[in-house]
Amino acid sequence: SQRRSLIAGNWKMNCLRADGLAIARGLAERAKTKGELACDILVCPPATLVSDVAGVTTGSAVNVGGQDCHVAVNGAHTGDIAAPMLADIGATYVLVGHSERRADHGESSTVIRQKAMAAHDAGLIAVVCVGETEQERDLDATLAVVNGQIAVSIPEGASAVNTVVAYEPVWAIGTGRTASVAEVAEVHAAIRAELTARFDDGDGFRILYGGSVKPSNAAELLAVPNVDGALVGGASLKVDDFWQIIESCA
Ligand code: G3H
Repeated sequence: SQRRSLIAGNWKMNCLRADGLAIARGLAERAKTKGELACDILVCPPATLVSDVAGVTTGSAVNVGGQDCHVAVNGAHTGDIAAPMLADIGATYVLVGHSERRADHGESSTVIRQKAMAAHDAGLIAVVCVGETEQERDLDATLAVVNGQIAVSIPEGASAVNTVVAYEPVWAIGTGRTASVAEVAEVHAAIRAELTARFDDGDGFRILYGGSVKPSNAAELLAVPNVDGALVGGASLKVDDFWQIIESCA
């Protein structure tokens, strides 16, 4: 397809400065040595490290993103981070609606849409995350849940340029359990159908799979139709593993 894959690492709430910088330097060095790459690379460190990681990856193929942003550009929101602040320190992407934000902070799809709009307004690419829980899958509600999240979480102003979708079945996150190729293919096709029905360039949106992606399963998952990359948690904290996943892009 014409879509260029994206391999994104979500460090979550991990890494003190020395560890994070070591990962970032390792990736930037490999990217420079390798030259032409078959995919785009993104790392999303904790907010404390976005500036430092952007510093050591400047001039490399490694892009940097935040893990969340507030819906507002500034104001009385103690502890929150605005999208323009992330852009200001070198981020070009931001994750919104990760299932851990939905679960830990009660974020609704409506709030996530507003966060995606805030990201777009700041010139950031929003990586909008969706995915069903194990209970929802057991109830055969997967497609209804994911389609509902897509319908509400993705704003009208979204395009293939400013928005990436990440499908992460909650039961596959950090569990070592990966969705099967058939399960991934079914949900990604449903997401593609929603996007093409709603957006002129819906065929151009990248749809990432996330949930226990590792070197041993990356190539198989990345070969599934409508899988345009991966959102990697645990394995993105090891340079060798993350690089192997990057190299799994055809
Ligand atoms: O954002 C990344 C995902 O939540 C996947 O995490 O690769 O540790 O399962 P994981």
